Amino acid sequence: MIVNVHQFAQWKLEGKAIAVLTAWDYMSAQIVEKAGTDIVLVGDSMAMPVMGHETTLPLTLDEILHHAKMVKRAISNKLVVVDLPFLTYHASHAAALLAAGRVVKETEAQAVKMEGGYPDMVETIAKVVQAGIPVMGHVGLTPQSVYQFGSFRKQGKTAEDAERILKEAIALEKAGVFAIVLEHIPADLARKISQTLSVPTIGIGAGPDCDGQVLVTSDLLGLSEWQPPFAKPYVNLREQGISAVQQFCEEVRSHRFGVT
Ligand code: KIV
Repeated sequence: MIVNVHQFAQWKLEGKAIAVLTAWDYMSAQIVEKAGTDIVLVGDSMAMPVMGHETTLPLTLDEILHHAKMVKRAISNKLVVVDLPFLTYHASHAAALLAAGRVVKETEAQAVKMEGGYPDMVETIAKVVQAGIPVMGHVGLTPQSVYQFGSFRKQGKTAEDAERILKEAIALEKAGVFAIVLEHIPADLARKISQTLSVPTIGIGAGPDCDGQVLVTSDLLGLSEWQPPFAKPYVNLREQGISAVQQFCEEVRSHRFGVT
């Protein structure tokens, strides 16, 4: 089935909110698909909870392609968006086209996500869109720029910074993105951007007034060791998992484990 990325702009017109969740392998993808997410994001955030890195920067294109293939095997008719990793799309338009092209050809995901809304990045994103590959934008706290920001802190807190982020979002819409992630910015700024754009905004740590919301699934499930301040765990699978494994170890050591 061909997924239509433009349906989400229609949902925005109809006031229908969009639920987006990340997945990093076949099992996590099956869970989010069965639970009814609208968009599955193979996010580069997996570099941290899943791969144990301190930032998303070390993740390579080959690594995310490997994970995206696992996710795609579990998803039949949902939009799968794959993050382009740090520095796989910055050097030139050609580099970005090749990276985005590998995602679509090798994983059969239907869209990519690219961080940043500064003029050079807007031009690069426009090229990828013109080549026929749908792009989801991402402004505010863009984790691939964590060393530039100095930490994973909230962005857009000053009037000047808020104005810059609003302008970036408008420029990304003109470049042709089909949706934009707004990460860790004040709720009133996210509301203003959402009201200004006709493409949907997908918030994370950006208040309730975005057109959709995204969570990192390992945060939602309480699996991650570290969680950002805007994470919302609905269950603590980490604790439950540790306790289940402890029970197994105790049963084995006391010769009570006896599955035949
Ligand atoms: O990589 C990711 O999971 C993301 C979300 C936080 C939007 O970019």
